[in-house]
Amino acid sequence: MNIEKLKAIETEVITAINEVNTLDELSGVFNKYLAKKGLVSSLGVHMKDLEPSERATFGKALNELRKNVNETYEAKKLALEEIALNKQLKSETIDLSLPGVNYLPGGRNPFYLIKDEIEAIFIALGYSVEEGPEVESDHYNFELLNIPKDHPAREMQDSFYFDEQYLLRTHTSPVQARVMQAAKGKPIKIICPGKVYRRDADDMTHSHQFAQVEGLVIDKNINLAHLYSALDIFVKAMFGEKREIRFRPSYFPFTEPSIEVDVSCFECSGSGCSVCKQTGWIEILGGGMVHPDVLAMNGYDPDSYSGFAFGIGIERVAMLRYGIDDIRKIYQNDIRFLSQFRKQD
Ligand code: PHE
Repeated sequence: MNIEKLKAIETEVITAINEVNTLDELSGVFNKYLAKKGLVSSLGVHMKDLEPSERATFGKALNELRKNVNETYEAKKLALEEIALNKQLKSETIDLSLPGVNYLPGGRNPFYLIKDEIEAIFIALGYSVEEGPEVESDHYNFELLNIPKDHPAREMQDSFYFDEQYLLRTHTSPVQARVMQAAKGKPIKIICPGKVYRRDADDMTHSHQFAQVEGLVIDKNINLAHLYSALDIFVKAMFGEKREIRFRPSYFPFTEPSIEVDVSCFECSGSGCSVCKQTGWIEILGGGMVHPDVLAMNGYDPDSYSGFAFGIGIERVAMLRYGIDDIRKIYQNDIRFLSQFRKQD
């Protein structure tokens, strides 16, 4: 190894660098000459073979070579990077004159609009929102609600059973029992929205799956007037200030007395029309005073505590509020139906 050879190597490397056209090719040259094990890096080993007098000149020349080669390499790298960047910028240019993609504003399913509205009304009245399991035990769905095995009231709610013990809940009322047990004798004021299931044939007004909002209030001295007041506020908020409610006697095994609640017809205001079947009233929900046996079974002394409960069908309220004639439309994903509930603002 001598100075001439060093010069020759320098020319070789600089030519190689100058000839590349892409960053990929440049990194090939780098690996061959400039990387840790490349030719240029290994030139230093020859120092030990030289006469001590020659070492200084050789070392100087080697430093010169490294400097020149590195400068050429860095300059080439910068130039190639700029070319690559320009190419990328060009390919990613956005043509602002192209017409845009027109996204339609989304609409919410009327089911959720009404569910949220019911929740908001009761939250404003101080209720909290609870949840319960959809796969429920016979014990909670029936027994703790005063519907023992073989009770004819079970026939009111044809059910989907998994086995002897478990079924899809037929109403949200089992949450009454769950909340009472968890509250351990303290006052309660809750609603529970959720899906329920019944082995019904689907038609215009029935679906094997629908949803209810359960309400439960327990405290000292709760009476039917409190239930009336809560539902009157609910109905006026949901269907308008002019609406009236009326109670009719009914039967549920877990309430005593039990009531069916009607709202004065918002279509004809009571004079009779097809919506209210000429009666002036529309049935909207069931409720009553929590049966003393249900209170006792779930940890409350019926002599000092009383309470009311109600169950609202969410789809039924949505159908009445929006004039939907077929419950199945709520579950089908028909954009012609859903787009009617698009926000107008
Ligand atoms: N669970 C009853 C039903 O599904 C409704 C209801 C709830 C009645 C609470 C009374 C009290 O039919």
